[in-house]
Amino acid sequence: MFKGQKVSFSGVQPSGNLTIGNYLGAIRNFKEYSEQYKTFYCVVDEHAITVRQVPADLRRRTYETLALYMACGLDPERNTLYVQSMVHEHAELAWILNCFTMFGELSRMTQFKDKSARHADNINAGLFTYPTLMAADILLYQTDVVPVGVDQVQHVELCRDIANRFNQIHPDTFTVPEAVLPKNGKKIMSLSEPEKKMSKSDENPNAVVYILDDRDTIIRKFKRAVTDSESEVRFAPDEKPGVSNLITIYSCFTGKTIEETEREFAGRGYGDFKLAVGEATADALAPVQTRYREFLADRAMLESQMKKGAMEATCYARDTLARVKKKLGFVQVR
Ligand code: TRP
Repeated sequence: MFKGQKVSFSGVQPSGNLTIGNYLGAIRNFKEYSEQYKTFYCVVDEHAITVRQVPADLRRRTYETLALYMACGLDPERNTLYVQSMVHEHAELAWILNCFTMFGELSRMTQFKDKSARHADNINAGLFTYPTLMAADILLYQTDVVPVGVDQVQHVELCRDIANRFNQIHPDTFTVPEAVLPKNGKKIMSLSEPEKKMSKSDENPNAVVYILDDRDTIIRKFKRAVTDSESEVRFAPDEKPGVSNLITIYSCFTGKTIEETEREFAGRGYGDFKLAVGEATADALAPVQTRYREFLADRAMLESQMKKGAMEATCYARDTLARVKKKLGFVQVR
């Protein structure tokens, strides 16, 4: 589809404020593919409605997520940046893929199990079939790589299974994609319960550092981060999850290795170290925040980018969908 060029696709939900976990675990890595791949990065608003959203908030966050993509260095001239609901092919292919996905497969998804426990009053069918919509996102663009955080690997694996199953029945339909994790592929954990993933929906605001937190807030949150009763800055995720998480964050933001970080803080205690992590995080986020505010203030620019992105995406999505419909035996009349 792209004359030998490989394709990278990923998506971020416009629900909740994005955290440094989203940034380090996914968004920052989208850019790595900008140079050599054809890239599609989508604001997945249709996934967001699997849990109840306030419409005005969803709308605002859709703009915010696009602005954040751009603030993180994704140039809309080099990357197709768009909003999922503006390209109806996603929902249409999702239906078709539902018919190639097994009930048992969807039942095994850990995100479904977690989310249905958290939203016990609204275990809707969309929450259950969420991974088939995600598979449609990916497969529409004949994607080779999907940069995601570790928590999404299971969904990408299911997408591969669906693609293989479809291809077996209807050969040469989909490229089978692969999940790619960030090089420094550690999960970013909660600051107050470092055994748990840092999650934007955490009720404890001190557990989470948001990309848009101001400098003082960031430093304060790191000061309060849970560590352990020793005082040694040493990477040992099982024994010392709190400190190890801080080392990961520090090394991600400064580009220093884990060993360099351990050496730098040898004999210096946690107080110094936490302050350094806070400062490094705030320094690294400052330029992103400045650009974000600039982009977000320009609605007209964002809307014209959304239009352009949706048009570009549609060109490719339409081709794949037409091919799929033909293979299935849907009558095509011109
Ligand atoms: N499920 C992903 C998340 O919650 C978001 C997403 C939707 C996605 N569609 C995608 C990620 C396609 C990668 C590819 O983070």
